[in-house]
Amino acid sequence: MALPKTSSPFSLPSFSLLLFILFLALQTPLSFSSDTISANSSISGDRQLTSKGGNFVLGFFSPANSSKKYYIGIWYKKVSKQTPVWVANRETPVSDHTKSELKLSDNGNLVLLNESKAQIWSTNLHISASYTVAVLQDSGNLKLTDGSKSSSILWQSIDHPTDTWLPGGKLGLNKVTKRDQRLISWKSSADPAPGIFSLELDPNGTSQYFIQWNKSVSYWSSGTWNGQIFSGVPEMNQNYNYDFTYVNNRNESYFIYSVKYDSVISRFIMDRSGRIQQLTWMEDLQDWILFWSQPRAQCEVYSLCGPFGSCNENGLPFCKCVKGFAARNQTEWDLEDRRGGCVRNTPLQCSSNSSANVEKDKFYKMDGMRLPKNPQNQLYVASAEECASACLNNCSCTAYSFGAGCSVWYGDLINLQEQYNGSDAGTLYLRLAASELPDSTSKKGTVAGAVAGGVAGLVVCVVIIWVLNWMRRKRQMIHAVQAVGRTLVPFRYSDLQHFTKNFSEKLGGGGFGLVFKGFLPDSTAIAVKKLEGLRLHGEKQFRAEVSTIGTVQHVNLVRLLGFCSEGTGRLLVYEFMPKGSLDVQLFHDNSVVLDWNKRYQIALGIARGLAYLHEKCRDCIIHCDIKPENILLDASFVPKVADFGLAKLLGREFSRVLTTMRGTRGYLAPEWITGVAITAKADVYSYGMMLLEIISGRRNSEQTEEGKATFFPTLAANRLVQGDVQSLVDHRLGDDVNIEELERACKIACWCIQDDESSRPTMGQVVQILEGFQEINMPPIPRSLQILVESPENINFFSELSSNQGSQARSTTSTGSQVKSAASRSSNV
Ligand SMILES: *[C@@H]1O[C@H](CO)[C@@H](O)[C@H](O)[C@H]1NC(C)=O
Ligand SMILES: *[C@@H]1O[C@H](CO)[C@@H](O)[C@H](O)[C@H]1NC(C)=O
Ligand SMILES: *[C@@H]1O[C@H](CO)[C@@H](O)[C@H](O)[C@H]1NC(C)=O
Ligand SMILES: *[C@@H]1O[C@H](CO)[C@@H](O)[C@H](O)[C@H]1NC(C)=O
Ligand SMILES: *[C@@H]1O[C@H](CO)[C@@H](O)[C@H](O)[C@H]1NC(C)=O
Ligand SMILES: *[C@@H]1O[C@H](CO)[C@@H](O)[C@H](O)[C@H]1NC(C)=O
Ligand SMILES: *[C@@H]1O[C@H](CO)[C@@H](O)[C@H](O)[C@H]1NC(C)=O
Ligand SMILES: *[C@@H]1O[C@H](CO)[C@@H](O)[C@H](O)[C@H]1NC(C)=O
Ligand SMILES: *[C@@H]1O[C@H](CO)[C@@H](O)[C@H](O)[C@H]1NC(C)=O
Ligand SMILES: *[C@@H]1O[C@H](CO)[C@@H](O)[C@H](O)[C@H]1NC(C)=O
Repeated sequence: MALPKTSSPFSLPSFSLLLFILFLALQTPLSFSSDTISANSSISGDRQLTSKGGNFVLGFFSPANSSKKYYIGIWYKKVSKQTPVWVANRETPVSDHTKSELKLSDNGNLVLLNESKAQIWSTNLHISASYTVAVLQDSGNLKLTDGSKSSSILWQSIDHPTDTWLPGGKLGLNKVTKRDQRLISWKSSADPAPGIFSLELDPNGTSQYFIQWNKSVSYWSSGTWNGQIFSGVPEMNQNYNYDFTYVNNRNESYFIYSVKYDSVISRFIMDRSGRIQQLTWMEDLQDWILFWSQPRAQCEVYSLCGPFGSCNENGLPFCKCVKGFAARNQTEWDLEDRRGGCVRNTPLQCSSNSSANVEKDKFYKMDGMRLPKNPQNQLYVASAEECASACLNNCSCTAYSFGAGCSVWYGDLINLQEQYNGSDAGTLYLRLAASELPDSTSKKGTVAGAVAGGVAGLVVCVVIIWVLNWMRRKRQMIHAVQAVGRTLVPFRYSDLQHFTKNFSEKLGGGGFGLVFKGFLPDSTAIAVKKLEGLRLHGEKQFRAEVSTIGTVQHVNLVRLLGFCSEGTGRLLVYEFMPKGSLDVQLFHDNSVVLDWNKRYQIALGIARGLAYLHEKCRDCIIHCDIKPENILLDASFVPKVADFGLAKLLGREFSRVLTTMRGTRGYLAPEWITGVAITAKADVYSYGMMLLEIISGRRNSEQTEEGKATFFPTLAANRLVQGDVQSLVDHRLGDDVNIEELERACKIACWCIQDDESSRPTMGQVVQILEGFQEINMPPIPRSLQILVESPENINFFSELSSNQGSQARSTTSTGSQVKSAASRSSNV
């Protein structure tokens, strides 16, 4: 490329070039791209270290922009949301980072000096080396080494983790120094100081991890290590993105792990919410997506909401204060630091100094509660009344429950959970000051009557106005629906309320919200999905995403008719499908058995719908949640894929729901657990699992083989290789089966559920194979199905299989590419 003409030294282009060079020159000292701290260089102000490959940055950061608190940290350079993986001075921030300094001290230690040059953090070693250097590595590790011998590591940050466990870092116990390496959560999003939750290796020496509250109460255990997985984390069976190693010798015991796919930005943290989590950065969404967490339910975290806080799995936020209480410190509560819990709005009017004219305390009834965890007293009284009065008579009693006996609690109540239906659920009577619970039976009857009369009059007026309004709107609505034709209708919430008779006829529901049946004024049947219990996007983004979904149209996709976005309410309106969802047709005993031809056509229709989503529409849409519940059937059993686009619409919430509310076995591809980026091949996997269910007419996980529980896909893969597919098909079909189609369907299903996504066919190839336009090879048995062991009986079954089929499976792994090349050949025709 030719340079711009420079006849005049002040011509515009060269002037801006000059500015640009000047700009670069000014920038350089700031982003001094070194990865090393040596004796004559230090970190201060905005100077940062950048690792060689540009993965990580070390420098001063401030977690909440407003606060003048700076910490030395290491964070991802390629992640737009600043995400520290390590913090040096967790508890002692500096207020002026330009005058503070991270440097090597004269004795070779790495030290952090604050504004007044006082040492506030140090690596604290006795170093004999003549000089040292600190290097930030591409793995996010800051390594202090002997300057003359870089192989001798004196100290490294990954062995002193904060809340993040990085690959290569030890998490365990040094038996000599008695020091443990544990993950400790941040206090709040604005404060990296050690919080109340931690993950540590069992100090008693077994190979299992505990999550602890306040270093004292363990509420989750990983189960012991069996050489391959932790017994309490069976999903690790599919977890082939990580290699865990357990080291246990005289000096130390710890786990260490490595990642197989370096390109994936994934982190393992002890979260502030009391759960360990594995998150992966999704460039598309510009956000961290949750792939895995334990304990699975948020409310299982011990004392999550603090004293007198109550957890609710079905609501967001999870925590709220019980009736009559408010957050002890609203600032901390809003930052999700719930240790302080809640305090009474009104002090108890304790019975000991009650004079005659003061009302006694009362009890507030709370149904469906998980009762408090903290110690309770069992009183031997006969009736609920006596139990109540026993509690009332002791000033420190705060609640009672009368079920199997009389339980009373003194002091703070922790671990309350609402809308709880476990076996230990009960009714709790919470003690409150009388003024918190106004009497429902008013003594001022006459006044109340007069007021009631007035209110009734008002209500009549309101109703009349409302009816008139409704009739007008109803006319408009008929108009709108006819006029807009194929574009989306923005419905009003109140209208949808009418159309669904106030959401009275429930069609179904899942993690994303309930679905209700309704009718438009022109008698068109609709299904209205209420998105609930989710942190949803703002109005504008919601509308944008919904209109993208609205443009996607295919005979095998459920059509979106409209939506509603008012306040916090978000609803989606779909065409109604009279035959309901595929799971009902397949698994419910009362329904007519679907014949083979219908099943095959359904499988083909779904494949076409998905192929369209993946390949034909403008932006590739990955469904992410393919399962029989999300396949609807119209009056003539034409399948329609429902809920596509929700992954994009709900973003981070989608994966939260997907991975926390449901088991991981079933339809989710292994990459959902391993954290590898999700592609359309994840849908292919789910489709394969579902296809097996279409063939067998039963849930994959509920299949029994001579009375033993067997994971059906394992059985199917093996029978297929043995050449016995006929035993796999739904027994209710009898002879009504096309064996050629059956074999083809079994093979394609087994190809779809391969662990390695590159071995799976695309949905377009699936369509071609099901249509019979393309031949298909015998698939290998997926690796994860070879090691899935459900019960002791299966161990024999599997060892037998692996000796018979192991070699065969390995020798056929290259056939994935054969499917592909065959497909490209036929599409070229
Ligand atoms: C810093 O010290 C090292 C050796 O200790 C030397 O090689 C390097 O040139 C020095 N850098 C500066 C900027 O003085
Ligand atoms: C802090 O400020 C930077 C730049 O102004 C911004 O990109 C970042 O999102 C802010 N972080 C928080 C937590 O507000
Ligand atoms: C620096 O740290 C020392 C020791 O912790 C402390 O006494 C001093 O107040 C700190 N200086 C500033 C400006 O915070
Ligand atoms: C460790 O062992 C001691 C004594 O054997 C026991 O009291 C304690 O509960 C154990 N701790 C854990 C975490 O299992
Ligand atoms: C945590 O334990 C310490 C004692 O180990 C105790 O002083 C502190 O109050 C506890 N924190 C809470 C929130 O209960
Ligand atoms: C344990 O530590 C001692 C002293 O540092 C060392 O000599 C020995 O090799 C270590 N043992 C193992 C198994 O690492
Ligand atoms: C609430 O907590 C914040 C942060 O810990 C603290 O700065 C503030 O003083 C507290 N407010 C009250 C009223 O205690
Ligand atoms: C109850 O009486 C005790 C002393 O007997 C007194 O300290 C306390 O403040 C009284 N409580 C109320 C709510 O009046
Ligand atoms: C109330 O109960 C507590 C805890 O059991 C007990 O220590 C206290 O003596 C009781 N007080 C009265 C007045 O019975
Ligand atoms: C408890 O509630 C959940 C969700 O509301 C439901 O799926 C589950 O079946 C219920 N369990 C029992 C034992 O009622």
